[in-house]
Amino acid sequence: MTDTWNSPEKFNREAAQWDENPQRRAVALEVAKAIIAAIKPEKSMHALEFGCGTGLVTMEIAPLVKTLSAIDTSREMLSVLLEKIKASGLSTIETICADLSSPTDTVGTDKTFELIYSSMTLHHIDDTAGVLNRISKLLSPGGMLALADLDLEDGLFHDDPLEKVHHGFDRRVLAEMLKVAGLQPLSFETIYTFNKTNRSGKTAAYPAFLLTATKIDNKKL
Ligand SMILES: C[S@@+](CC[C@H](N)C(=O)[O-])C[C@H]1O[C@@H](n2cnc3c(N)ncnc32)[C@H](O)[C@@H]1O
Repeated sequence: MTDTWNSPEKFNREAAQWDENPQRRAVALEVAKAIIAAIKPEKSMHALEFGCGTGLVTMEIAPLVKTLSAIDTSREMLSVLLEKIKASGLSTIETICADLSSPTDTVGTDKTFELIYSSMTLHHIDDTAGVLNRISKLLSPGGMLALADLDLEDGLFHDDPLEKVHHGFDRRVLAEMLKVAGLQPLSFETIYTFNKTNRSGKTAAYPAFLLTATKIDNKKL
């Protein structure tokens, strides 16, 4: 079956084995480290991760903030995360099965967040401008955004040629899209380089960035 944009089926199928891939665990740790260094999460913050998957990054960030809303479209990914939450005893994480790119999927009533982040999820969402707008509405003024994703790639990173994904992002184009959504880009840094045998059988390097931005506080302008 061909998976469509925002379809949870592929991730539902992969959830039980997701954490077995050492590269996934390694990149998640690097993303968490980079977010902690760049944003300095605080115990007063309500945070939201979209595309949290099995919570590889969630479990690193949650102890540092007040609450963490962990959102994903895949129920199976979330059920792996729920097991981790149970085992850890952390009571400040709520899991929400929702599509962040759908304006009708709620992610907490009238809630805004001081921190929103994601890791390797943006390229799975068809409407980048739309989801950035949604994020902007969900961020409190002066709130922080951290997005980790692939730089523009050769189109061979994903194993399934039929999978609907963006082939990474051009940093300058993404920065412009953020500004249109009312977000001020602050920094881009390369935080990880995937060395992987791509689906043409060649080993190639795929760099990933962490982008940080802030929601413009119109009252301070
Ligand atoms: C490549 S995985 C990354 C998972 C996790 N962040 C990690 O680093 O292991 C992308 C995740 O985004 C989720 N996802 C895709 N589109 C989404 C959307 N529109 N809203 C919320 N989650 C989404 C998928 O179900 C999947 O769990």
